Amino acid sequence: MNEIYKDKTKSANERAKDLLSRMTVPEKAAQMLQLPYSKMPRENAISWAEKGLGSFLHVLGDDARELQQTALKTRLGIPVIFGIDAIHGHGLNDTATIFPSQLAAACSWNRELIEQMGRVTAREVATDGLHWTFSPVLCLGRDARWGRVNETFGEDPYLAGELGVSIIKGYQGDSLSSEESILACAKHYLGYGEAVGARDSCDTEMTFRKAREVFLPPFKKAAEAGCATFMTAYGSIDSSPFTASEKALRHILKDEFGFEGFVVTDWDNVTSLVTNQHVAADMKEATYLAVKAGNDMIMTSEGFYNAAIKLIEEKKLDEKLLDDAVLRILRIKFQMGLFEQSEKKGKPGCFGCEEHLEINKELARESVVLLKNNGILPIKSKRIAVIGPNADDIRAQYGDWTYFTHPEPDNGSEPKRPYCTVLEGMRELAGEYGAEIFYSKGCSVLGKDDAELADADFKEAVKLAGECDAVVLVVGDVIEQTGETKDRADLSLSGAQNALFKQIKGLGKPVVTVLVSSKPLCIPEIAEDTDALLIAFNGGMFGGLAAAEAIYGKINPSGRLPISFPRHSGQIPVYYNSLPGWHGGKYMDLPGEALFTFGEGLAYTEYEYSGIEFDEKNFVLSVNVKNTGNMDGAETVQVYYRDLVSSVLTPVLQLIAFEKVKIGAGETKTVTFQLKKDDFALVTPDERRVVEPGAFEVMAGHCAKAESLLKVEFVI
Ligand code: GLC
Repeated sequence: MNEIYKDKTKSANERAKDLLSRMTVPEKAAQMLQLPYSKMPRENAISWAEKGLGSFLHVLGDDARELQQTALKTRLGIPVIFGIDAIHGHGLNDTATIFPSQLAAACSWNRELIEQMGRVTAREVATDGLHWTFSPVLCLGRDARWGRVNETFGEDPYLAGELGVSIIKGYQGDSLSSEESILACAKHYLGYGEAVGARDSCDTEMTFRKAREVFLPPFKKAAEAGCATFMTAYGSIDSSPFTASEKALRHILKDEFGFEGFVVTDWDNVTSLVTNQHVAADMKEATYLAVKAGNDMIMTSEGFYNAAIKLIEEKKLDEKLLDDAVLRILRIKFQMGLFEQSEKKGKPGCFGCEEHLEINKELARESVVLLKNNGILPIKSKRIAVIGPNADDIRAQYGDWTYFTHPEPDNGSEPKRPYCTVLEGMRELAGEYGAEIFYSKGCSVLGKDDAELADADFKEAVKLAGECDAVVLVVGDVIEQTGETKDRADLSLSGAQNALFKQIKGLGKPVVTVLVSSKPLCIPEIAEDTDALLIAFNGGMFGGLAAAEAIYGKINPSGRLPISFPRHSGQIPVYYNSLPGWHGGKYMDLPGEALFTFGEGLAYTEYEYSGIEFDEKNFVLSVNVKNTGNMDGAETVQVYYRDLVSSVLTPVLQLIAFEKVKIGAGETKTVTFQLKKDDFALVTPDERRVVEPGAFEVMAGHCAKAESLLKVEFVI
């Protein structure tokens, strides 16, 4: 029979169907399996490639090429696809461009720049001979105690969905078969960040109604944008593991959203059904549940292979379910053009090239958030002390998912590409501003937390501060405090960082505090007493340069918070789009509102809003924004709504549109938004998305604070 699967004039679907029809059950089971190269002896990997394994993860360069050559020599010669965690750049490769973390990049609110971040990452991953990144994270960062908040685009479903689609476009380009395109992976489906107590992988007490209102929208947008793969979350929805949830995977994602790519489980999810979640007695039962629910590729659960073969032999699993999974995998491989060219060329020589570094710098600049400034910034002082544990720590600045943290932490890696810490940035620009820079680390993030016991560094730093005109204090967290299984119960600054701030502030010197951290930390005292506060989060290679440029006034800060800051860990959750009804509206020992809220961010100019208009027939909103300062800048105009009376509780405020607009000094711009009726929908208890008639408020302004929003009331 002519081999249609070899005929590149046929469609990916036709070729996949023909190839599937030729496969044995063992070949199908192998195609559905993905194994971790970094955790297995090389000869095992080779023998799995000989069995026709579908995918390896965490393999780089020549090792990948050897496995691919082995796979191409098998009976059907099905190419392997290689997946890797390129989460903010191709970070596991020490010559790659390391971008700001997703959370830091989200502070830019810049769709175009985040698409470019995806494009650059794809180019470098493809050039490394790999096909697939396990990115973007579309879970929401609604509880900062969770170890992986740095991997999210923040707390809001609309912003996460918009930026998720942007980076997916960057990764996948116009065609999966292009030389520089790689597969994106919307993860972790679903609601991983919503685990009870922010306890990684624990149960989320959400319902499918809540999921449809808050957690599904970014994933729906990803599916509609053609995201090629999704990753099943570890956890469970109201006690049903996602790995075994036919409703979440098959009915909603595949049937309702029309998703035609393939679903990969997270790390060893199938085995976890037995060992962690105890919903399966053995691997055969776990395999049955996982395949029936709609998982197509099984990450690292090696026992799946024999279990699947046995289930088919014993007629306990319908082979059609395997066929559906394998067809999805093969279809993607054909769409990527891997049967004609198993390794993409990418763009040789592009790792860390000038073009890539420039895009990285631009994103880092737009990601810096100025939260407080009593006039000290832009800094004019001449003798500046740069102090603090994160002033010159590139590991802390990079955060999670780079060659410093994976595949193993503390692997002795050293940076091979240029980077710039806050200290280096302050030094690099000092000449331009007639400043003299002095440095002292002061304390370590994980050190003793008592100033009296603090070491000599502490005293030296306080002495140095006394000898200078102003201080730039850089505090935050380190990679040991962030990532998977690194949830924190206490988000206050660790070590003697607070004591260091207090002693320096006590000298009466102006202090600019810079937060280099993976997530919001509880810094109420610093927020109260510092003269200026900059949030850089994990700013990537040039996060320090961007912070320094903001401090000197070389750039006009334009970052806006994608996540709210709690005053205290006990105040969590503090996300802005909360539901009404809190009796008293505050704790008896804490105010009710967050320390800083979603959308906040200052600049060296002010933006004045006026003349909001809403055409309720055509759902068109317009508002005038004036830059009243003497520096050109960029304002992120945010549009929110509130449903004034609804059949279920609805958020006190919900973002439904935003646009980042460049506005020259003294210039006024009219910004117009084409909204749609569905933007004002809610989800009913029986999970229907409806727009109920009644009164609404639509608002436009600077951030999710009532006093910064102009509003129009209207009726649907
Ligand atoms: C990890 C993470 C997931 C990652 C995968 C492969 O445990 O949960 O985000 O993509 O395993 O490394």
